[in-house]
Amino acid sequence: MNEIQKIRFFSGENIPLEMHKVRVVQKLHLPPVEERLQAIRRAGFNTFLLNTREVYLDMLTDSGTNAMSDAQMGAMMQADDAYAGSQSFERMSTAIGEVFGKRYILPVHQGRAAENIIFQSFVKTGDIVPMNYHFTTTLAHIQINGGKVVELLADDALKIKSDNPFKGNMDIAKLRAMLEKQGASVPLIRMEASTNLIGGQPFSMANLREVRKIADEFGILLVLDASLIGENAYFIKQREEEFKKASISDILLGMCALADIVYFSSRKVSSSRGGAICTNRPELFEKMKVLVPLYEGFLTYGGMSVREIEAMAVGLRETTDETVIGQSPSFIRYLVERLEAHQIPVVTPAGGLGCHVDAMGFLPHIRQQEYPAGALAAAFYLVSGVRGMERGTVSSIRDEHGNDILSDAELLRLAFPRRVFTLSQVKYVEDRLHWLYTKRDLVGGLRFVEEPTVLRFFMGRLEAVSDWPERLMEAFRADFGDSL
Ligand code: F0G
Repeated sequence: MNEIQKIRFFSGENIPLEMHKVRVVQKLHLPPVEERLQAIRRAGFNTFLLNTREVYLDMLTDSGTNAMSDAQMGAMMQADDAYAGSQSFERMSTAIGEVFGKRYILPVHQGRAAENIIFQSFVKTGDIVPMNYHFTTTLAHIQINGGKVVELLADDALKIKSDNPFKGNMDIAKLRAMLEKQGASVPLIRMEASTNLIGGQPFSMANLREVRKIADEFGILLVLDASLIGENAYFIKQREEEFKKASISDILLGMCALADIVYFSSRKVSSSRGGAICTNRPELFEKMKVLVPLYEGFLTYGGMSVREIEAMAVGLRETTDETVIGQSPSFIRYLVERLEAHQIPVVTPAGGLGCHVDAMGFLPHIRQQEYPAGALAAAFYLVSGVRGMERGTVSSIRDEHGNDILSDAELLRLAFPRRVFTLSQVKYVEDRLHWLYTKRDLVGGLRFVEEPTVLRFFMGRLEAVSDWPERLMEAFRADFGDSL
């Protein structure tokens, strides 16, 4: 039980209570449904291409959008501007040492920049990188260096509805079998904390320990993507008996101690910007170090402004506060429970990062080749002004014959940046999704009209396969009248 859950309501209602107050606000605007239709059309049915002027609640991502604390903003004013040897970098290194227990630090401008440096240093043509699950930028960086990815989740981890508390666990038997056959081609094992693309699902400490053992047995590096480690640590405390009474600090240190290299996107983990790679092994540090001035900048700023570095230092320490890292998961759980009450298919158990709606369950009449998750993201924006993100086949790639590699899951991700939304806004999301579910037969598929070859989901443009967006808008008007 954490501080948030310790507060019980006399009414018996079970709602997450904010353990912060709002002191800086930004005005929002909800454009009418007709304007939303024009906007999503102009954006090529890709929510990445919407402008925030057209968006009411921006649930695209938590990346760079978590609310900052007063302490972070204060620290930003005391930054030490220097190309080399900045005190801000010293403060960031001290914070990484305290929170992740690593001594050698390489600063980078964001998470994928860390991936560029790590995979360029350790992956070569023909290599295979086993992991619990890939992230889009991770896969792209491994492939660009000539490597391949194999995902070794347990068989039930991709089941939408589940009570497996640790769907992000690596399947140890599969890992062992894979290494016995192909170990010579494996430079490293990668574990992603709060496995993003399968719904922000955590792995357990017990599982990470097992992976470490195997890494030692086969003499292979273990790399931990800690971009969402705060939430993973929170779930370990909530769900793993051994850690019920442990502090988040100790859990974070315990997780990082098991990895040779830890890297992260500060846009997520520390509610700031930037990122870093850290290790306690000087020979690994030396190997990666040469690439930082080449791609990022000098070794004491790595493409970040000193203000970002200060905000990272403070934000990392705040990651050890359960009321900070527990805020998104508690709101996500609330929304997941409400949607389940309406029979709307969502990924369970509720994870970190966001609420993930199962688009194949929501829109079973749309073939995967017509992108149900993309269609759901576009339809939901149209009926609500809320911007979510497609995490399905649009976010996948094509094979060598030009066919879509169909994604394991088709999800609409509604991200919960930390401490940004209020409960009434979450209730609005529930209400509009519920309405859309009653009109789901109206939603149709999408097809690409402009398709970049790499990371196509960012800039790709699609169109509706029929006039379904107009018909959905008319249904909205018929039911809601003048309401926005
Ligand atoms: N690893 C994970 C697990 C991530 O979730 C992300 C980013 C990255 C690496 C790359 O970091 O964006 O700073 O370069 N996830 C964002 C998201 C983009 O919306 O889920 P980055």
